[in-house]
Amino acid sequence: MINITHSKMNRFNYKLWNKYFMANDRKRLQIDFSKETGLTETEKKLIFPSIQAFQKGEGSDGAFLMYVVEEFAFKYQKKEYIEAMRQFVKEENWHSAYLKKYMDYYGVKSKDRTFLDECFRRLRKLGGLKCEITVLVTAEMIALTYYDALSRCTDSPALKEICAQMLHDELPHIMFQSYTLSHMEKGWFDRTLRVFFMAATLLPVWIAYHEVYLHGGYNLSRYIRENMGYLKQSIFMTKKYDS
Ligand SMILES: [Fe+2]
Ligand SMILES: [Fe+2]
Repeated sequence: MINITHSKMNRFNYKLWNKYFMANDRKRLQIDFSKETGLTETEKKLIFPSIQAFQKGEGSDGAFLMYVVEEFAFKYQKKEYIEAMRQFVKEENWHSAYLKKYMDYYGVKSKDRTFLDECFRRLRKLGGLKCEITVLVTAEMIALTYYDALSRCTDSPALKEICAQMLHDELPHIMFQSYTLSHMEKGWFDRTLRVFFMAATLLPVWIAYHEVYLHGGYNLSRYIRENMGYLKQSIFMTKKYDS
């Protein structure tokens, strides 16, 4: 697990987040398929069901999200948040596009809907921005362990490149969302809810994609420890912004 609590990005306001996202957007990954030697059928069966699900999950248009973001920006007089969130959605769509390119290379079709993505989308719309961000950041923390495991499932250089880019982008996302959560109520009830939601999400993801995690060096105990560890860091950062 990577420690992100000491990152200087934890001191960013939305103006700086905007700057970061715009700079990162100029460094988009050009996937190099020239060293690709192919995947075995076993490898394809192992990795593509989860890649299809994550490809779908990364590719939201963010329409409802932007609606609640604007409410928040108005309430807290943080107009820069709207642009930062637009940039964030754009970055997530890039993630979806990287995975799509990889699937296209191997002739794998996208999924219109997946069970987990459907659950995440419904849950995000249950409340306002706090609910949206809580669900989003939980998925992003799980993505960190997923892409780490996925990168070790095969020798595919293109997939390793994509996973490295995902990890590079997702770590700041956790800090960005934690900063927003720090503006909202965050007593023991909110913290308990976040732990409960993480626990409730870890179970179906493990049931669906444990093979990827196991091949990538994660047993159940490491899977829980690392994801809960990221949550602990996010909660710590949310409280830290108070002082
Ligand atoms: Fe992403
Ligand atoms: Fe993300």
